[in-house]
Amino acid sequence: MKMSLANSTMKKWTVTSPGVEHLRLESAPLPSFGEHEVLVRVEAVSLNYRDLGVIQGEDGAAMPFPCTPGSDLAGVVVASGARVTRFREGDAVIGTFWAGWLDGEWPATARVLGGSLPGALAQYLVLHEDWLVPAPSTLDAVQASTLPCAGLTAWFALVEKGGLRAGQTVLVQGTGGVALFGLQLARAHGAQVIVTTGSEDKRRRALALGASHVIDRNAHPQWDIEARALTGGRGVDHIFELAGGDNLAASLRALRQGGRISLIGVLGEHSMTFPSVPSFLTRPVIQGIGVGHRRALEELVRAVDGLALKPVVDACYAADQLPQALEHLKRGAFGKIVVKMH
Ligand SMILES: NC(=O)c1ccc[n+]([C@@H]2O[C@H](COP(=O)([O-])OP(=O)(O)OC[C@H]3O[C@@H](n4cnc5c(N)ncnc54)[C@H](OP(=O)(O)O)[C@@H]3O)[C@@H](O)[C@H]2O)c1
Repeated sequence: MKMSLANSTMKKWTVTSPGVEHLRLESAPLPSFGEHEVLVRVEAVSLNYRDLGVIQGEDGAAMPFPCTPGSDLAGVVVASGARVTRFREGDAVIGTFWAGWLDGEWPATARVLGGSLPGALAQYLVLHEDWLVPAPSTLDAVQASTLPCAGLTAWFALVEKGGLRAGQTVLVQGTGGVALFGLQLARAHGAQVIVTTGSEDKRRRALALGASHVIDRNAHPQWDIEARALTGGRGVDHIFELAGGDNLAASLRALRQGGRISLIGVLGEHSMTFPSVPSFLTRPVIQGIGVGHRRALEELVRAVDGLALKPVVDACYAADQLPQALEHLKRGAFGKIVVKMH
């Protein structure tokens, strides 16, 4: 480590026991790194719905308290171990959500930052060089920090596993981070997009972002009927299931025969149910999505640069405003909430 960094201290968020009220912004020494690791100056951390679960002690993979939450970061490499070959000092990087899932099958040994590994809500973080990819050249750190989880989840569902094609119709539920990346990526591939929302203001914003149709979930609790009608009765080609519970049954009713549902979210419930017999004839392709691997993230980064896609950041909070940022997340963001760490 360089002398200018040695003996330095940083700020990091620690949650001492379950609950947002137990978050503390503490001073800590800069962590030391091994020969295959890099020290990253964390510029921005985007929040995910699961961060609330970790902080509240609800996430199945939560680490023992006290812990530092946060999985998604963008930053700059400021020092590196003797055997690091992938990065140099000064490189702009983003983290991979999964530490250790590089390509192919998900390995049971893969772990998550701010899960079973120390999290990203710190001003400096040590990471194995394999757990980072070069940041997009067209995004600033705040925007780039939104790619590792929300961006990659939508990309993995639609492109890596979804076979998305121009002319198809994609439906996303709500206007959170995953949903809006789904909207933007589907539009960029020439697909039509239907959005469901519970908010009039977000309805207007989703249309401005390129949604073909927006269904008000409150006015139309049976949103699947509206969705099917909007496709001329054919049904939707690809649906992001983000709510869970009985909502999956509605997703199946809205789907075209042989269409695809990506099981992604638990905004409503942690289990999903649907009647089996009607599904036999719909012949749905139901795919679970667990974010995605590093190779797909690298491909997403290239796509973002090539398309000049700008992630939707609803609000940006200062490093000491994490509790306010989490309150915003609980209220429901339009896109992503980001915390700037410097
Ligand atoms: N499996 C994976 O790989 C993966 C990856 C990322 C996230 N997830 C999960 O996917 C879900 C969405 O994540 P996110 O980060 O995009 O969340 P988010 O940004 O926090 O999304 C919040 C938005 O979702 C909408 N919403 C809230 N409750 C809803 C409900 N019951 N039904 C439909 N929409 C609802 C609201 O939009 P409106 O106000 O417009 O309705 C709200 O603004 C979460 O459950 C998260 O844990 C899974």
